[in-house]
Amino acid sequence: MPSVYIKTYGCQMNERDSEAVSAQLVAKGYTLAASESAADVILLNTCSVRDAAEQKAIGKMRTLAAEMRRHRPEVVLGFMGCMAQSRGRELIDKLPDVDLVIGTQKFHRAADHLDEIFAGKRDKVVDVAEEQGSEATIREHVLNGIGASKPVTAFVSIMQGCNQRCTFCIVPDTRGAERSRTIADVVAECRELVARGVREITLLGQIVTSYGRREIPVRDGKSGFVQLLEAVHEIEGLERIRFTSPHPKGYGDDLVEAYARLPKLVESAHLPVQSGSDAMLKAMHRGYTREKYLGIIGKLRGVRPQMGVTTDIIVGFPGETEADFEDTLSLAREVEFDNAYIFKYSPRRETPAAEMPGQLPRAVKEERNARLLAVINEIGARRYENYVGRQAEILVEGPSKRNPARLMGRTRSNKIVVIDGSERHRGQLMDVKVTRAGSFTLYGDPAIINVE
Ligand code: 5AD
Repeated sequence: MPSVYIKTYGCQMNERDSEAVSAQLVAKGYTLAASESAADVILLNTCSVRDAAEQKAIGKMRTLAAEMRRHRPEVVLGFMGCMAQSRGRELIDKLPDVDLVIGTQKFHRAADHLDEIFAGKRDKVVDVAEEQGSEATIREHVLNGIGASKPVTAFVSIMQGCNQRCTFCIVPDTRGAERSRTIADVVAECRELVARGVREITLLGQIVTSYGRREIPVRDGKSGFVQLLEAVHEIEGLERIRFTSPHPKGYGDDLVEAYARLPKLVESAHLPVQSGSDAMLKAMHRGYTREKYLGIIGKLRGVRPQMGVTTDIIVGFPGETEADFEDTLSLAREVEFDNAYIFKYSPRRETPAAEMPGQLPRAVKEERNARLLAVINEIGARRYENYVGRQAEILVEGPSKRNPARLMGRTRSNKIVVIDGSERHRGQLMDVKVTRAGSFTLYGDPAIINVE
């Protein structure tokens, strides 16, 4: 059977989608190739959130197409995911070597489409239609991928789509309207993962806090999302629960209280703020003010003082003045984020912000990006430095990426800690003493605390 290589761009949802497609292909008899050069099928799972992400995937496909045409013309090339969804057939018109375009509601059809291409029944396939129930098709996991031993952590996709319509964002078009899986279905998937050795689960969705809003009635003041957290929390053998990404509007008191009640829910929140200026938040259609956001952070730290907080911020949104930008700088200092992903505003097709007056020159975006990055790095360094000399619980995940001779784990607040250890520590919760802080990484010594 043919072998497949999937290269993933973009967010964790994309990582998860690629994994599910890999598992579905394996179940149909395909194998997973260790590299592009060994593959009979190369799929690029794409991101559309910024133009740069699209250009990267298009550039990659251009290089692949030229190479394959010369050396291995039989190799099947495909795009899948967000850019595939929003551009569809246009991608084949632009890059005639592409054989397959699979949208975000059709991932589970990848194997069938490849079968038909290999059987010679179809030449080109573009499948970007909507499909009812597609949110429940991202459920298979690759539990022994190439070279990987049993994973300790796993992503579980709980919903698809987004209804928020932030004025800058293309995602409602690429991912469609919000659709949630059932609690029973998500819990069953989590149980299977735990039975296979997974200790930490990250629940995924574009806005996870909107989970079940239409499908699951509020019960005892608890949203569908909080009901899901409670159900997953019941799973014996599961040690930690994370989720990403939430929306500030989803932090009702029910969710804040869940942190007080559910010990497996770790003290970590990736809470995208986008801007510290009320005028920008309004123009972005975010649905909260700076004050409201600060209030949520205060409440979370009230129940869990160690809460690690990270965020996404856009600089250079249309009409952003120097004063608006300074509001973002001051918000970053006030919250003291552990880290932040900074994005230079990128106009996206058919989004309201792309048509707004006051589009800013690239130089202004670059300059604000650099100034904000300096502040984020300075605060981050201080917050990481604060851990030095302290004890922290980590879940050991496996070899450190940068130095495979050492192990890495994460604190509950989602900080990577590199330690000396051996394979038998994988999957263990361990108390370590943090001895040193590097750039957004901690180094720890388990021996000082854990008597062997
Ligand atoms: N330009 C720049 N950044 C964007 N993001 C989403 N859309 C855009 C855009 N048009 C950022 C937001 C979001 C993150 C995933 O990507 O900060 O939270």
